[in-house]
Amino acid sequence: MNEFLKRAKEIALKIRDAERIVVVSHIDADGITAGSIASRTLERLGKDFRIEFVKQLDKKKIDELKDENPPLVWFTDLGSGMIHEMYGLNAVITDHHVPSSQDVIVPKHARKDLRTFFEEMSKTDVLQLNPHIFGRDGAVDISGAGTTYFVARELDRRNVDLAPLAIVGAVGDLQDSEYLRLIGTNRLILKEAKEWGYIDYFLDARFFGRETRPVYKMLQYSTDPILPTLTGDERACMNFLRNLGIPLKRENWRRWIDLSFEEKRLILSELVKLILRMGYGHELASRLIGEVYILKNEERGTPLRDAKEFATLLNACGRYKNAIIGYNVCLGDRDSSYKEALRMLNRHRRNLVEGLNFVKEIGLIKREYLQYFHAGDRINENIVGIVASMLLSEEKEQLPIIAFANSEDGNIKVSVRSPRALVNQGLDFSIIMKEASAKVGGYGGGHNIAAGASIPRGKEEEFIEIVEKMIKDMLTK
Ligand code: C5P
Ligand code: C5P
Ligand code: ZN
Repeated sequence: MNEFLKRAKEIALKIRDAERIVVVSHIDADGITAGSIASRTLERLGKDFRIEFVKQLDKKKIDELKDENPPLVWFTDLGSGMIHEMYGLNAVITDHHVPSSQDVIVPKHARKDLRTFFEEMSKTDVLQLNPHIFGRDGAVDISGAGTTYFVARELDRRNVDLAPLAIVGAVGDLQDSEYLRLIGTNRLILKEAKEWGYIDYFLDARFFGRETRPVYKMLQYSTDPILPTLTGDERACMNFLRNLGIPLKRENWRRWIDLSFEEKRLILSELVKLILRMGYGHELASRLIGEVYILKNEERGTPLRDAKEFATLLNACGRYKNAIIGYNVCLGDRDSSYKEALRMLNRHRRNLVEGLNFVKEIGLIKREYLQYFHAGDRINENIVGIVASMLLSEEKEQLPIIAFANSEDGNIKVSVRSPRALVNQGLDFSIIMKEASAKVGGYGGGHNIAAGASIPRGKEEEFIEIVEKMIKDMLTK
């Protein structure tokens, strides 16, 4: 931990020294919270800065930044995968994606000309805070928002009030999903946030919508875990509750947070019985209960109160090119941006349900080592990965899911999600996406368990062949 904190401190010093800073962050919930933490920190330092959210950090974006040549660039929730392209930049990175390298590489053409070479090298100064370089797994240990928070905390102790955003970022990247609680470095943030009274956490039902949805709706939309005979069936969910003698409505539809302890216990024990009776096993049943994270300063019954719902609200903004709206909400807007975010949340939920239904209609194509679907234009490229995550949690038979969707840039967006068990056996999709996409003329990366790529249209079949072979090789090594 000391080395990690030391690096956070070094980055903090560079930020303190910079005259002007450009923050570049990712468009998803973790990226938006990371950017918000960086931004509030710089505001408190009285720095001149601007922030920008991007879907991906590609070479083009880095070249633009080089042309602009600001005194310092702060990459949050991205950057580590592109560090080899950053020659000539003065930058800091707070990220958790698998680093491409720990070094900045000056390309051959620049090296040929000694003057350019020395010029590029003398300008280059890139420092990153990333759990991977300290031997930890960036998919679960800490998120982009978390690493950014550690730097913020070094710069100003007041920034502990940003800890809840770091938790929302981690939950947004599903870092609590494997162990049903946050672990590793995330735990330090959590404890600090609790001590200061910003966050509360305890064991409860892990359902999405605990704070905001009528209980029967919450059950109807449950995908992690799926509830056999209930998920997707409104009437069945209502009857399930009625049969247990639980009133659906008092003055208003009752939400999970409105139920008594006894009522909750009854529902959970019946759900466990149901899951086991339907042959899904203990592992699925155990996913009913886990740690939940409450933002104590947010109003009860709103989507901002529960970290998981807050993260979904942010994804609903960022994944539809409105990251700034989510960013404004993170920084405290409860007026126009918040209202807009709520509208987008509704649309996002509808899109996810439609996306899931679409894949169920066309069916997953199963192969020996993977299964896949091609959404074409039917699912937005930015949410196709979320749909893949949801589908995976419904699967009895645990094979990785590869999803394709048409991308607005004319290429094909690839998202992949893997069962944890295979990752534990050595499968690593950050490598597979990177190498397989390069073989068909694309690019990719991410985490062992969740990764993505962009490949040329028409290369899908070839790509699947390569990926399948790589999975086989990794698992049978
Ligand atoms: O780019 P970024 O790191 O934010 O993306 C992380 C992605 O990993 C999220 O979309 C999340 O859904 C996915 N993930 C997952 N299962 C996990 C951990 C992360 O699907 N156990
Ligand atoms: O878009 P999706 O949620 O599927 O992305 C999963 C992970 O893969 C994210 O961490 C994302 O940053 C990464 N990814 C990547 N290169 C791409 C697409 C996705 O590194 N071309
Ligand atoms: Zn992230």
